[in-house]
Amino acid sequence: MRNLEGGAPAANSTSPQLTRRDAVIAAAVAPAILSASLAGSASPSTAASRAAANTVPTRLTVNGTEHALDLDPRASLLDVLREQLGLTGCKKGCDHGQCGACTVHLDGRRIVSCLTPAVQVDQREVLTIEGLSPSDGPLHPMQQAFIDHDALQCGYCTPGQIMAAVACVHEGHAGSPDQIREYMSGNLCRCGAYVGIVAAIEDAATKMRRA
Ligand code: FES
Ligand code: FES
Repeated sequence: MRNLEGGAPAANSTSPQLTRRDAVIAAAVAPAILSASLAGSASPSTAASRAAANTVPTRLTVNGTEHALDLDPRASLLDVLREQLGLTGCKKGCDHGQCGACTVHLDGRRIVSCLTPAVQVDQREVLTIEGLSPSDGPLHPMQQAFIDHDALQCGYCTPGQIMAAVACVHEGHAGSPDQIREYMSGNLCRCGAYVGIVAAIEDAATKMRRA
């Protein structure tokens, strides 16, 4: 069974754990090796390096830091953030754009990073939950409001909820509980912490408008 972090379970306790990226690369390389072997025109190692070199140079600015990466064109922004940049705040829930757990901001607008090819983010700015408030400063009003209103239980959906909630306020869609519920409907909470989430957004919206 696949775990929620997206990693494949190890075959036994001594096997190295494969990441989803390892599996994708292996899937890409295997046909190239097979066809090269059948044709007899190239060694498997030559075919493998050709497949591995099929990457796209991409520059991402994430939380104010620029990264120059060579990316598989099929890699999602979510996988690049989590597996290459170590930013595990954005969560993999459904991996199909249906739960909102992977929400980040792209050039100030909320997006689901699981459905965003990372190469399309070239030269653009990404903000994740790790960059929402300074590591040595106060929490963002939305983060503080989630704590004050007990707007979480297991916390798995929380980073995505907070990033979506900040955007919801900036968009002017947090004027009433009904409007908040409508514009936050893309972010699911399996623990059912919705009452606290709506209260937190109302509270933070007031403070954000004053700031
Ligand atoms: Fe992206 Fe569910 S993991 S929407
Ligand atoms: Fe558990 Fe939302 S707090 S899924």
